[in-house]
Amino acid sequence: MALEFTVRDDQQYTDQARLDEIFANPGFGDHFTDHMAVATWTKEKDWHDAGVVRYGSLASDPASAVFHYAQEIFEGLKAYRRADGSVWLFRPEANGERLRNSAARLALPQLPVEDFVAGVRALVEVDQRWVPGGAEQSLYLRPFTIANENFLGVRAAHTATFCVIASPVGAYFKGGVSAVDIWVSLDSSRAGAGGTGAAKCGGNYAASLQATNEAYAHGCSQVLFLDATDRSHIDELGGMNFFVITRDGQLVTPELTGNILPGITRDSILTMAPDIGFTPVERRITLQEVLDGIADGSIVEAFACGTAAVVTPIASLTVRDQVHRLPEVAESQSLDIRQRLVDIQYGRAEDPYGWTHKV
Ligand code: PLP
Ligand code: COI
Repeated sequence: MALEFTVRDDQQYTDQARLDEIFANPGFGDHFTDHMAVATWTKEKDWHDAGVVRYGSLASDPASAVFHYAQEIFEGLKAYRRADGSVWLFRPEANGERLRNSAARLALPQLPVEDFVAGVRALVEVDQRWVPGGAEQSLYLRPFTIANENFLGVRAAHTATFCVIASPVGAYFKGGVSAVDIWVSLDSSRAGAGGTGAAKCGGNYAASLQATNEAYAHGCSQVLFLDATDRSHIDELGGMNFFVITRDGQLVTPELTGNILPGITRDSILTMAPDIGFTPVERRITLQEVLDGIADGSIVEAFACGTAAVVTPIASLTVRDQVHRLPEVAESQSLDIRQRLVDIQYGRAEDPYGWTHKV
């Protein structure tokens, strides 16, 4: 039976003046709405007790499994305000499917996709006024599931909590949509064969933070991780998928080897590619091939993509002390791809793929 997210609280705690102040400079993930959606799972009762409640701390025992063995998964999607004031979600069922796949990998309970979408919708309906309407702005939704049983034995927990929180956001990177510098991690990996790279679990991100600090120390804002087995093929960035654009119009991205997150933005771009004049290519791609392509001009652009980053052009790849600069382009094809995607998301262009859903 479908879960019903009962609205237990819909009071608006934040006044309009404060909301306007937040919308003037939302940042990314710094402010949270007045409510959250929650549901409980137990081995005996399956999913139950779903509702929208006031945003606040989750009461957890220090022995809760999530604190010790990182049995946690999450998602990221956005709600967009259109020019007519209406609010729309982008491919929420794809996030619901991915959360189910992540749950299977982390031995967490799988929430049915319709319940996932119902939880997200219920929260956005209650907190509609939190969806900003400025350029590049949206309401970032962060659904997650945590093991929530108090015990220290190492086994899958028998109790879990699903929760959705929401944050009004602007561009992910401080520089807005301008091109970013990338640090290539030669020493640490994010995920290896048979590991959890294809799941969206907190542990993957924890494993990326040391290299991220290294990137910051070298003036870069994201890390590009290589395949953990041969350390020569490109996997993905710490929080984004990776693409290059070739001189002959190919959009090339690493194929899904099981170590890479199957990004919904990645999939959307690959789907749109033939319709916007590119040839989509998913294959293994070496770092050396990319550096050679930059040097000989056969690779003309590179970009990062994801829900948070949308499509962000890459300015350079730093490998140890060598900075490999992508050429400056008069008309960025990456930004054109970005524009075509956000035009669909904000309803400024037709959506022939059926990706957008009104709340
Ligand atoms: N790769 C990683 C590691 C990510 O964290 C993300 C962000 O969600 C992506 C790729 C892009 O996925 P999506 O486009 O579904 O947001
Ligand atoms: C997202 O894009 O949704 C992510 O989870 C990535 C992170 C950099 C915020």
